[in-house]
Amino acid sequence: MSAARVLGTGRTALVTGASRGIGPLIAREIAGQGGHVVLTGRSAAELQEVTSKLTAAGADVSFIPADLTQPGAAQTLVHTIERQREGIDLLVNNAGGDPLREFHTMTIEENLQTLQLNLVAPLALSHAVLGGMLRRGQGHIVNISAMAGRVSFPFTEVYAAAKDGMIGFTRVLRGDYHARGVSASVLILGAIRDAGQGQRMLDEAGMKTSRFMVPAQAVARAVIKAVRKDRAELVVMPGPGRLMRAIMDYFPGLGPAMNRAAGATASMQKIIELREAKADAVTNG
Ligand SMILES: NC(=O)c1ccc[n+]([C@@H]2O[C@H](COP(=O)([O-])OP(=O)(O)OC[C@H]3O[C@@H](n4cnc5c(N)ncnc54)[C@H](OP(=O)(O)O)[C@@H]3O)[C@@H](O)[C@H]2O)c1
Repeated sequence: MSAARVLGTGRTALVTGASRGIGPLIAREIAGQGGHVVLTGRSAAELQEVTSKLTAAGADVSFIPADLTQPGAAQTLVHTIERQREGIDLLVNNAGGDPLREFHTMTIEENLQTLQLNLVAPLALSHAVLGGMLRRGQGHIVNISAMAGRVSFPFTEVYAAAKDGMIGFTRVLRGDYHARGVSASVLILGAIRDAGQGQRMLDEAGMKTSRFMVPAQAVARAVIKAVRKDRAELVVMPGPGRLMRAIMDYFPGLGPAMNRAAGATASMQKIIELREAKADAVTNG
């Protein structure tokens, strides 16, 4: 399958999590290749703001608000776009995030909400776009995963489970549909700076970025690379990311030791305490 068939003039991309963080940068990069990009997220006001900025910069974009954790939301979103346009050529499952609270202090329902956003919603969206992609014999699904599970990043149990799940899901999806013209790639992100949840977390705690963080723009460029070069997996982190990931798998005890040595465990403890204090304040009025 040629990447030119899913990017460029006459093509339509859907980018989730495009109201803030890394998503708007991904949308801008895809729009820069030509073609139309539909942005989605829950916040209509933020989507409108991003859409206005990208349109002013010459991009062909529109938005549809949706809460992807709601039953049927993925199917409704995809059907709406398919009615308006010829079909969806590229889906970027970027929406995601972690509440950064301790697993045991959250209810199981709160924990399952994290799974819903980071794993179930991307599966539902992929399922919803696949029929149209197969009918047209072309399409690409890019899933945004994270190193969290591989490096045992503290306090991310459910998020890590979901993001590791995305890697397995993408591998099998790619294997099953590639010969029929539909490809899939997964981007495995380390810590990201300049935009997104990692940067906000540091800002909230008054902490500085580290040299282990990658600029958010690099993620946007990696999406294009994954599609153009039809890559199965790209690790977006400084240094030899794929090797680091393999070493982490070979020595599962290394991640926690590195997190402690690099100060990530202590930093995350500080963040968690801030989050728990906020949650207590809400509960106790
Ligand atoms: N930033 C990092 O350091 C980092 C590291 C590794 C992986 N990642 C991954 O990169 C992706 C983007 O992260 P980010 O840092 O840009 O996150 P972010 O700034 O928190 O943005 C998350 C996006 O997801 C949307 N979203 C959240 N809940 C939603 C829901 N229920 N339904 C629909 N949309 C929803 C948000 O929009 P609304 O609030 O308007 O709904 C927002 O646009 C995520 O998958 C994240 O796990 C990020």
